[in-house]
Amino acid sequence: MTQKNRFTLNDIRNSKNKDSPLVCLTSYTTSMTKIIDKYCDIILVGDSLGMVIYGMENTLGVTLDMMINHGKAVMRANPSSFVIIDMPYGTYEDNPDQAYKAAKTLIDETSCNAVKIEGGANITKTIKHLSNNNIPVMAHIGLKPQSVVKEGGYKVKGKTNQEIHNLLEDAKTAEKSGAFAILIEGTIEHVSREITNLVNIPTVGIGASSACDGQILVIDDMLGLNTGHTAKFVKQYANIADEIDKAVANYSTEVKNRTFPNKKHVYIG
Ligand code: KIV
Repeated sequence: MTQKNRFTLNDIRNSKNKDSPLVCLTSYTTSMTKIIDKYCDIILVGDSLGMVIYGMENTLGVTLDMMINHGKAVMRANPSSFVIIDMPYGTYEDNPDQAYKAAKTLIDETSCNAVKIEGGANITKTIKHLSNNNIPVMAHIGLKPQSVVKEGGYKVKGKTNQEIHNLLEDAKTAEKSGAFAILIEGTIEHVSREITNLVNIPTVGIGASSACDGQILVIDDMLGLNTGHTAKFVKQYANIADEIDKAVANYSTEVKNRTFPNKKHVYIG
């Protein structure tokens, strides 16, 4: 594969209603970013890292420092994908100034390209404030993982008329406030399609609809590195956990029977 051009905010803006949807994945490390970058348009340093990397039960314990450290790790791979970092729980909800301070720190420290914030109609002032101050914002609507404790679990959205109304309002107000794109998670298919048709900015879906302008998955889920529960919307493209198991079992046997290291792996004086 030939080297791809750097993917820009304008490229994302121009991706609305295109035949070829945006390819997006999460990444949290330099090594993974180096492998996946050439296939991606957008890389998200998601706060899913709290669960994926740190074994947390949900994303609520993720801190700004964790996002900065993993954002730096991803950026060290010099990706040509557009890199977005999640604003963690507790860093933006109080007021637009609090959000601006946290978002600016994320961008200054990591040189990432944009931030993602969970919310729509409830954070319009914040989206507007950040966008007006040159911080590109992706709004995350539908199932919002930072709200799962408050809502009593991971609940698919768009099942009732009230929910559909709220989702359409979230999407419309996020666009009006200046969000450059909307991530739709865990939302009934026809509602995700309706949202995508309603707004003029691109939508990126996860458990949403093939009509979205892009798709995203959590990298560990799609590689089969996550040995726990995965959501219905995850398609596993590999079983890396099995490969690791086989490799480490092999290593363990060879260490125990002294066939590793052999002559090839030691320095002969
Ligand atoms: O944190 C994350 O990984 C996300 C997913 C929905 C992609 O926001």
